[in-house]
Amino acid sequence: DARTDLTSAVAAWYDEHARELPWRGPDRTPWGVLVSEVMLQQTPVVRVEPAWQAWLARWPTPADLAAAPTADVLRAWDRLGYPRRALRLQECARTLVERHGGEVPDDEAALLALPGIGPYTAAAVRAFAFGRRAVVLDTNVRRVLARAIGGEALPAPALTRAESDRALALVPARAADAARWAQASMELGALVCTARAPRCDRCPLVSSCAWVAAGRPDDAHAHRRR
Ligand code: ADE
Repeated sequence: DARTDLTSAVAAWYDEHARELPWRGPDRTPWGVLVSEVMLQQTPVVRVEPAWQAWLARWPTPADLAAAPTADVLRAWDRLGYPRRALRLQECARTLVERHGGEVPDDEAALLALPGIGPYTAAAVRAFAFGRRAVVLDTNVRRVLARAIGGEALPAPALTRAESDRALALVPARAADAARWAQASMELGALVCTARAPRCDRCPLVSSCAWVAAGRPDDAHAHRRR
């Protein structure tokens, strides 16, 4: 059906065009994925990449970060900005040691109970680290769906129930496909279906996109954005 066509078109595009990012590599760990997601919450990929490499080389496990002097942790975070995230990540590492034997759990409720881990990050860790079926809705994915399905230039400022239901209905049934869809839809939003100057000529969804079909109308929420 149309939903399967959409998710498999994006997955096929991803296989050809995805960036090679270290936290996606074959020797990724759940902890590495969690650290990448916390860093990527407010910092672009190009700045996260070297910081993530250095961080994981220095503190490869939650136990390593839990035991580190907090001053070192803050210094290592340095240019990523929003240093509260570094403090929360260390608290998170300590909680993992105290409650989860130093491992990242794959259970949604256990992840949500960790410091600094909200619904987006919990879903991303479950999908990317454990290959679970999870609704991963970051701003990139929300924009892809707003356009391809909703016919709107940009998603509403805050996530709506209808939007998450729609996203849930799209998640492929097989966990492996679901995890690939999550990564692929995020990458499409980051590289092609960008907020400004989207590259529709390179998009695997161009022939079915509701926003393209409508003539790419402007942002319906623009008046609320500034
Ligand atoms: N932004 C948030 N998570 C990401 C990921 N896993 N890869 C690339 N960009 C991201």
